[in-house]
Amino acid sequence: MYSAVQPSGNLTIGNYAGAVRNWLAMQNEYDCFFAIADMHAITVRQEPAELRRRTVELAATYLACGLDPEACVLYVQSHVPQHAELCWVLNTCTYVGEASRMTQFKDKSQKHAENINMGLMDYPVLMAADILLYRADYVPVGADQKQHVELARDIALRFNNRYGETFRVPEPLIKRDGASIRSLQDPAKKMSKSDENPNAAVFLTDDRDTVMRKFKRAVTDSDNCVRASAEKPGVTNLLNIYAAFAGCTVEEAERAFEGKGYGEFKLAVGETVADVLSPIQAEQKRLLADKKFLADALQKGAERAYKVARKTLDKVYRKVGFYRGE
Ligand code: TYM
Repeated sequence: MYSAVQPSGNLTIGNYAGAVRNWLAMQNEYDCFFAIADMHAITVRQEPAELRRRTVELAATYLACGLDPEACVLYVQSHVPQHAELCWVLNTCTYVGEASRMTQFKDKSQKHAENINMGLMDYPVLMAADILLYRADYVPVGADQKQHVELARDIALRFNNRYGETFRVPEPLIKRDGASIRSLQDPAKKMSKSDENPNAAVFLTDDRDTVMRKFKRAVTDSDNCVRASAEKPGVTNLLNIYAAFAGCTVEEAERAFEGKGYGEFKLAVGETVADVLSPIQAEQKRLLADKKFLADALQKGAERAYKVARKTLDKVYRKVGFYRGE
C-alpha cells in the first residue's frame, strides 16, 4: 500500500478524513509506505525554509495521528533518489496529451498562471513513479487523486506491454465518507491547504475556539433540516465531516440529528472535530520538541524505502535496455 501527502501547507481535516485517517487501520494489515511528497510540493513556489519546517512538522503529524514507524515505512520522497529516476523512464511512456488533460494540472495552471512549469505537468508521472516503485496494490487517497492513480495504472500497463511484466497495476482505495471534504465557505470547491479564505478550511493545528468559529460560520441553506442531498451541498459536507470524525456513516449522522436545527448541528460537528484534533495536537507538540528522534525515524524510513526502490529501478533499467555491465 502506498500513499503520500505534500508538505505544501498545514494539513486540513480534508487530508485527514480523505487520506491519513484511512491509513491507520491499514498499517497493521498491509506492507505500507507513506511518504512526505516534498518533490511534488515544489511544483508550486515554496519558501525553502518553510518547506523544510513543514516537512518535519508533517512527519510529526503522521506520528501524532497514530502512524507507527515500526509498522509502516515513513519517509521523505527526496531522500530516495529512485523516485526521480523512475519518473524519467515513465515520462517516455506517458503522452503529453494525457498529462495535459489531468484536471489538477488544468486547475493549477489557472491558479498559478505565472508559473506553469514542466514539473506541474509531470506531477502525476512522478506520482506514478512513487506508487510503482513500491509495487503497491492499493493507494488510499481522497477522491481528487483518483484520476492520477488511474493514470498510474495506464502507465504501468503500457510499460508492462512494451517491456514485459514489471509493475503491479495499482488500484485507488477511496472511502465513501470523507473522500471529498468541501470548503466550508463554498462547497463547490474542495477544502484545500492553500485556500485564500481563512474560514474555508479547518487545519489540524486549529485550536478548539477556531474550530468552533469556523463551523459556526460554515455555509448551509435556509431550510434547517439536517439531511444529505445534492441540493444541500453545505449540509452534506458537514454531515460527511461529522461521519468521518465521529466514526459513523452519513445515514447514522442524519438519524442522530433528526429534528434538530443547524445551530445545534454545527456545534456538534465542531465539538466532534475538536475532540479528535486535541490529542493529535498535544502529541505533535511533544514530538516536535525532539527533532533528533524525528530525523532518525525519517532516516530509518528512507533506508527501508531505498532497499525496495533500488530493486524495482534495477529491474526497470534492465528491462528498458540500459547497459549494466556483463
Ligand atoms: P495532497 O497533499 O494534495 O493531499 C493529500 C491527501 O489528502 C487528500 N485530500 C482530500 N481528501 C478529502 N477531501 C479533501 N478536501 C481533500 N484534499 C486532499 C488527497 O486526495 C490525498 O490523498 N498528489 C498527492 C500526494 C502524492 C501521492 C503520491 C498520493 C504524491 N505521491 C502517491 C498517493 C500516491 C496529493 O494530493 O497530495
